[in-house]
Parts: sequence; structure tokens; C-alpha cells
Amino acid sequence: MIKAYVAREPGGKLERFEFDPGPLAPDQVEIDVAYCGICLSDYSMLHNHWQMTSYPFVPGHEAAGRIAAVGSHVKHLKVGQPVGLGWFSRSCTICSQCLSGNQHLCGSHEGTIVGRYGAFANKVRCQAMWAVPIPEGVDLAKAGPLFCGGITVFNPIAQFDVKPTDRVGVIGIGGLGHLAIQFLNKWGCDVTAFTSSKAKMDEARRMGAHKTVDTRDDAELAKLVGSLDFLLCTANVPLNWDAYIATLRPKGRLHVVGAVPEPIPVSVFSLLVGQKSVSSSPVGGPDLTAKMLEFCARHKIAPIVEEFPMSKVNEAMAHLEAGKARYRIVLKNDF
Ligand SMILES: NC(=O)c1ccc[n+]([C@@H]2O[C@H](COP(=O)([O-])OP(=O)(O)OC[C@H]3O[C@@H](n4cnc5c(N)ncnc54)[C@H](OP(=O)(O)O)[C@@H]3O)[C@@H](O)[C@H]2O)c1
Ligand SMILES: [Zn+2]
Ligand SMILES: [Zn+2]
Repeated sequence: MIKAYVAREPGGKLERFEFDPGPLAPDQVEIDVAYCGICLSDYSMLHNHWQMTSYPFVPGHEAAGRIAAVGSHVKHLKVGQPVGLGWFSRSCTICSQCLSGNQHLCGSHEGTIVGRYGAFANKVRCQAMWAVPIPEGVDLAKAGPLFCGGITVFNPIAQFDVKPTDRVGVIGIGGLGHLAIQFLNKWGCDVTAFTSSKAKMDEARRMGAHKTVDTRDDAELAKLVGSLDFLLCTANVPLNWDAYIATLRPKGRLHVVGAVPEPIPVSVFSLLVGQKSVSSSPVGGPDLTAKMLEFCARHKIAPIVEEFPMSKVNEAMAHLEAGKARYRIVLKNDF
């Protein structure tokens, strides 16, 4: 039996629950969850904000732990090996996207917390490919947030070929944003942090931002017109999009990974003149996740975490809801 924390209705309190996962599929592994981060997507899913949650619902898609069992076809992972699991837990392996290393774009993927039980649990399962080994130099207690928050911001930096000579911005300094600042600083970029919280400005500089700007201060944005090559938005709220697009240099890109529910109105002319782009992407694939982990080990990048025992998951969720997380909450399995 697997022990987990489950909500029985949208926004419901998480309570203890046990389920029988059945036999392990030949291509799956079972992970002993040691830690699991809380992503804002867990909160949105708990509340069924995206109309895709099924109840009973077990959140958790930033797991770090050790392999507990491997399916009969799995040869490359060993019991006891440290691994992590993020948003995706299966992909088809044979479509064009899977075959080209873009498994996160597979049309028939499975989400770790979509229609199945996630990692606010003592164990979680996935197709072996999605259990990515955690290398030496990456602390297991802080690794979980890299598997969703980390790869979500690392992926566009790699996919869109952000250059060390680029001037970049990160909007929203939360779980995703505080990792993006660290990555982009080590990538070599000139980094501007956009935050709505004055209190986070000094901390953003310590994370590696060279400048800080108030997210909602249009006068400050106006000073940045035509200055940035790449702008990564991790906030999940409507912003003055035109003002942000205006901060881009020709060929600049506004890449939105925050799940903003409202449409983003963009005039063609604001893009056309400077050949600018607005884009988005989901998490990232297992190969790039492994490369990101190596990058973290090499540059001593780690999430700044607040640890709660998993038994205090409701308190942890309330802390997140209040916007008090600095900068990622991680649950420690105490089942
Ligand atoms: N694309 C993907 O694959 C993917 C993967 C993971 C998560 N997500 C989504 O990414 C978003 C961020 O997730 P997260 O876990 O990093 O959340 P988070 O830790 O709560 O950070 C979000 C940040 O957005 C900013 N923000 C929030 N409310 C704001 C407001 N009213 N005005 C201006 N800024 C505001 C805040 O930054 P400041 O305090 O600095 O202003 C906040 O720290 C969520 O929507 C999540 O669902 C997407
Ligand atoms: Zn997530
Ligand atoms: Zn596929």
C-alpha cells in the first residue's frame, strides 16, 4: 500500500489515505519519496483552476528520493539510486517529439498529478525515463524543486539559445523565478529581476540579479525600452504586457511560463517592427533535466527552501497561499 495525502473536493483539506497501486509495470520504477516540493501548479490543481483535476486528488510533482523497485524491463536504474520526478510521468516514446528528445511535447503524455496520484506520498511511480538520476553535488533535500520549477525555466534558456552576452529579465521571484535568476547569472547574462515585493529586491541581488525593478511600476519599465533580449515571466497574473514587450530589443522574446489564465493581448505591430516573439512552454524533457542537474552541481545552484514535515502539508499549503514561501516549500516525508 502507498500512503499519501489526498483532497476529496476542490480546495479540500489534505488528509491521510492509503491505496493499492497494483503491480509495477515492466517499464516503470517506484520511488521512495524523501522530499517533495510544492509548486504553485499543485495549488492550482488542488482548486481545479484548470478544469483538469480528478478527485480524490494527491498533489506532488517535485519528488526527490531513491529507487525502491524497478520494473522487469528497466536496466539502467538501480534500487537505492537517488532520482527525481517532475510534472510528467510517462510519454509515448515513439512519436516524433519523443524520438527527437522533446518528450515534454509528446501528445500522449501522462502528468504525475493528472488523473493519477502524485508525490505527496511515501512512494510514487513513473515510467523509468522520467525518473532522472540526481548527480553528486546536488543535495537530495533541495533537489525536488529542480524537477518542475527548475527545468521549466532552464528549458527555454536552452531551447531559445539565450547567449551569455544577452540582457535578460525575470518577472516574478517565486519558486520558478528565484531559480531562473541563478541559472541566468551563471549562464553569463546581465540579469534584471522584476518583483512586486520590495522585500525581495535585496534577496534577488544576492541570488544573482544585477538590477531590480518593481513589476508594476510603468515609469521604471519605460526606462528599459529596447534594452532586453529575453524576458521570462513566471508570474501568473495579467501584467502591462505592452510595456514589457516594449522593453525588448529587436528579435527579443517574451517567454511566459507562469500559468496566466487571462488572454495576453498583443498587437502585431508591437512585434512586427522589431521582429519580436511571445511564447510559452511546458516544463522540459529528461535529457535537458539531467543537463540542468549537472549545471546545478557545477555552479552550486540550489533552490532556497523552507522545509515542512509532510504531516504539516495543510499548514504548508496555507503558507504558500499567503504568498509567504521563500522561495520554495519542500515537504519531508514523515509517514
Ligand atoms: N509552464 C510550465 O510548465 C510551468 C511549470 C511550473 C509552474 N508553472 C506555473 O508558473 C507559475 C509560477 O509558479 P511558482 O511555483 O513559481 O509560483 P510562486 O512561487 O507563487 O511564484 C509566482 C510569483 O509570481 C509573482 N506574483 C504573484 N502574484 C502577483 C501579482 N499579483 N502581481 C505581480 N506578481 C505576482 C510573485 O513574484 P514577486 O513577489 O517577485 O512579484 C510570485 O512569487 C504558476 O502559474 C505555475 O502554475 C508553469
Ligand atoms: Zn510544477
Ligand atoms: Zn511521444
